[in-house]
Amino acid sequence: ASSTAHAFENRELVLVSNREPYTHERDDGEIQVVRPAGGLTSALDPMMASIGGTWVAWGSGDGDGDVTDEDDCVRVPPESPSYDLKRVFLSDEQVTNYYYGYSNKVLWPLCHSDTSKMTPNATYWRHYQDTNWQFADAILEQVDPEKAVIWFQDYHFALAPRYVREQAPDTFCMQFWHIPWPSWEVLHTCPQYRELLDGLLANDLLGFHTERYCENFLECVSHALDADIDRERGHIHYDGRTIRVAAFPLGIDAEERRTLAASDEADEEWASLREQYHLPDDGLLAVGVDRLDYTKGIEQRLDALEHLWEWYPEYREKLTFVQKASESRGEIEEYQQLQQNVEAEIARINDRFGTDDWTPIVYIDDHLSLAALAALYREGDICLVSSLRDGMNLVAKEFVASQVDDPGVLVLSELVGAHEELGDIALTVHPNDTEAFAATIEKAGEMQPTERSNRMSRLQEQVEANDIGQWKRNVLGEASVLLEQR
Ligand code: F6P
Repeated sequence: ASSTAHAFENRELVLVSNREPYTHERDDGEIQVVRPAGGLTSALDPMMASIGGTWVAWGSGDGDGDVTDEDDCVRVPPESPSYDLKRVFLSDEQVTNYYYGYSNKVLWPLCHSDTSKMTPNATYWRHYQDTNWQFADAILEQVDPEKAVIWFQDYHFALAPRYVREQAPDTFCMQFWHIPWPSWEVLHTCPQYRELLDGLLANDLLGFHTERYCENFLECVSHALDADIDRERGHIHYDGRTIRVAAFPLGIDAEERRTLAASDEADEEWASLREQYHLPDDGLLAVGVDRLDYTKGIEQRLDALEHLWEWYPEYREKLTFVQKASESRGEIEEYQQLQQNVEAEIARINDRFGTDDWTPIVYIDDHLSLAALAALYREGDICLVSSLRDGMNLVAKEFVASQVDDPGVLVLSELVGAHEELGDIALTVHPNDTEAFAATIEKAGEMQPTERSNRMSRLQEQVEANDIGQWKRNVLGEASVLLEQR
C-alpha cells in the first residue's frame, strides 16, 4: 500500500466497516483488548497500521455497557498505536433491525440469490437507513471530508455514501462489496432496489470480487435508473457524476499462512487436535472450514460424502471428513435451523457408516487458533468448498497457501467467486449434483502425486500472485488515478 499511499498525501484514509478490528471489554475492572477473528478486519488492520487514518465501526463491546461513550475514539493497535478507531454505538433495537434484520435477512439472502429467505419489512429498512445516517454523521464529525478518502466496506453500508455526499458533495468515497451482486431479476424482488443502487452510486469507485458481479451491477443500474453506462470502461454517468465500477478479486496473506503452516506451533496444534478429536493416523483426510451459513452448501457436501461411502465402499474407513464450523448470526432462525440440520445429518451418517474404530465425520465447533487451522489445512488431503453462492471464498485460498507438505487437492464449487481464478486448476463440482460431486471426491482421493503436485504449484502461484497486498495496491491505485483526474 505504501507505493500508492502517496496519492493520498493530503488526504486521510477513513475506513468504514460494520465489525471493528479491536474490541475493548472490561474484565474485573481491567480493560482487555480482544481482536475479533473476522477475515475482513484482520486483513485490513495491517494496512491501516501502516498508512494511518481513521477506522469507523460498530462498537460492539461486550454488550453490558462496559464500553462507554467516552471510549468512542481510541488509538490502535494497542501495542503500537498508529490510527484512530472511532466507534459507533448501536442500541439493541438497531442491532436487531439493522444488523440481523435488513443486512442479514434482506441483503444477505438477496445478494446470494436466495430470495425465499428474504424477509423485508419497513422496520428493518427504517433502521438500516437510520444506522447508515448515524455512520455518515460519525464520519463527518471525525474528519474533514474535503481532505479524506472514505472507504466503505460491504453490504451494511449501501446508503451511507449517499448520506455523506448529501452533506459534503465533493468528498471522495469508495466502496468494496464483499459478497456477490445478483442479477437484475433477483435484485428486482427487493422493494428498495432503487435506493440501494442510488446509495452505492454516491461512491466515486465501486469494487466487486469478480467481473460477473460488475456486469450484474451495471445491468441492474441500466434497468432501474436513468443512467448512461459505458460497459467497456466500467463507467456509469449518473446524476451529473461518473462512477467507476471494477473487479478487484480479494486475496489472503499467503506468505503468513504458509509460514504458519510450516511452524512448530502448527505441529504442536496438530498433535493436540489429533488427540482431542481421535483423528486417524492413516488414510485420507478431507476438510471443510465454514461459518455456519446456508450459502456454504454444507448439507450438499454431506450428501456427497454419504453418496461416496455408499457407492465407493472402499472409501469407508479410508476417508475421514473433518468439518470445522463456526457459529454465526445465531439469532436468525435460518441459521439455528441450519446448525440443527448439519448436526443431525452428521450424527445420522456417522451412525450409518461408523464402526468401533472409525468415525466418518468429525465435527469441530470449538474455536481454533490460526495455527491450529493452518495445521488442519496442511494435513488435509482434500479440501471441500461447496458453496451455493459465495462472493469469493477465502477458505479455498487458505487451504492452498497452507499446503507446505504433501500437496492436497482442492475441490471447488463452480458457484464461488474464487472459481474465476482457480476453477481451471482445481477439481470443479456443482454442489447440487450429488453423484458427480461424490465421484469428484473419489477422483481427488485417487489422484497421483505428480498431478497433485502440478496442480497445487499452479494454484499456489495464483494465490500468491493475487494476495491481499496486491488487492490493496489495485484498489488504492485505482483510487489514486481517479483522484488525480479530479
Ligand atoms: O463475507 C461477508 C462478511 O461480512 C465478512 O466480511 C465477514 O467476515 C462475514 O461476512 C461474517 O459476518 P458477520 O460480521 O455477520 O459475523
